[in-house]
Amino acid sequence: MHYKKEPAFINRQSELAYLNSWIKERPEHILFLYGPKSSGKTTLIYRFIERNLPRTEYDIKHFNLRKLLLINYESFLRAFFERKDSEQIKETRQYDLKVFKLSVETLKGLEDRNLDPFIVMEKELEKINKKGKRPLIIIDELQALAEIYFNGGRELLNEMFNFFVAMTKESHLCHVLIASSDGYFIERLYNDSKLRKTSRLYEVDYLPKEDIVYWLKNLEKESSISDYTLTNEQIKYVWQHFGGSIWEISNVLGEFLLICKDRKVDWDEMESVVAKYIMQSMSYFEEYAALDTPRTELLREILKNVQIMGYAKESQMKPMLDGGYFPDKAFLKEELHYLVRQNFLYYNPTRGEYKFQGRSMEIGLNMFLRQVDSVL
Ligand SMILES: Nc1ncnc2c1ncn2[C@@H]1O[C@H](COP(=O)(O)OP(=O)(O)OP(=O)(O)O)[C@@H](O)[C@H]1O
Ligand SMILES: [Mg+2]
Repeated sequence: MHYKKEPAFINRQSELAYLNSWIKERPEHILFLYGPKSSGKTTLIYRFIERNLPRTEYDIKHFNLRKLLLINYESFLRAFFERKDSEQIKETRQYDLKVFKLSVETLKGLEDRNLDPFIVMEKELEKINKKGKRPLIIIDELQALAEIYFNGGRELLNEMFNFFVAMTKESHLCHVLIASSDGYFIERLYNDSKLRKTSRLYEVDYLPKEDIVYWLKNLEKESSISDYTLTNEQIKYVWQHFGGSIWEISNVLGEFLLICKDRKVDWDEMESVVAKYIMQSMSYFEEYAALDTPRTELLREILKNVQIMGYAKESQMKPMLDGGYFPDKAFLKEELHYLVRQNFLYYNPTRGEYKFQGRSMEIGLNMFLRQVDSVL
């Protein structure tokens, strides 16, 4: 089957080099990958393990929690453990999760809560080490575990971190890699002094301009797109509207396939595809802030700071309190949290900086504010 467009994988050389040197060190830290939504964290992890880690040397337990419904202890067990050689389970699993494989008795012990899942995991990791392989635990979208409790109110996430700290910093049994696009979640963990000392954070950001230009100049090679090419002006236009947001760019490239003619994309048509995205993000802001002065002014203040500095910080939002738009810091913080949860903003937990989730959001907001001002 030949598709008109295939997923690309552009650059990420320095990220891959970082991961490569991390895996070559003795396990001492938990490594957290964070970054804006759809910046390519999951793709980077897949690439890293597929290309750089021979299965003869590494035993990889890879949990992508986004794909699972995790609501209680039982579902956690199902996500992390499975019966050895269970054909039936294999068939029902549509995706390739490399979980801990256990004997029927051990699994029963876990289900009956006679065994501690982390002691079981540790034993499994020891076995892997004894076989001369290096275990690596990867958990994508870890925040999915946040609301799960054991009997007796022990929080699963907390127990898991204690376990990871023991496995890395203390016994050096296993590498642990965790990815999340939830900046607040990462911040909460990082504010925990125990974790701060035992973790490293690494940002996977949007791609820089030269990568996007390279990609758009090499559509056939990188994305198997042979139905059209883009002119330099058009490449510039795409960059100006989407920046390094690969997911959005990948989507518009797909839309260009529908409108291209004679191996070209007509300017007017291209503009209307792009305008659709901008209008969409403008309408998100409209829905959030129309006829709401505090919210509108907050957005204006954020945009002003992003345009001047490239980011906004909570500490720069003082005019929001002085102007009486928000009664106190807690309300302001809550509003910023909301904007992050709604994916309007991306929060970088190490620097305490807010940015827009992509350039098209920023342009959409600009349009919204101009519209507000025009009716004043
Ligand atoms: N280096 C890259 N070059 C080109 N496209 C990429 C690259 N990395 C990721 N993509 C594409 O971008 C999209 C988003 O990638 P991915 O799901 O890995 O992001 P993510 O950061 O894990 O997202 P989320 O925050 O939702 O977990 C995918 O369609 C993927 O194919
Ligand atoms: Mg992901």
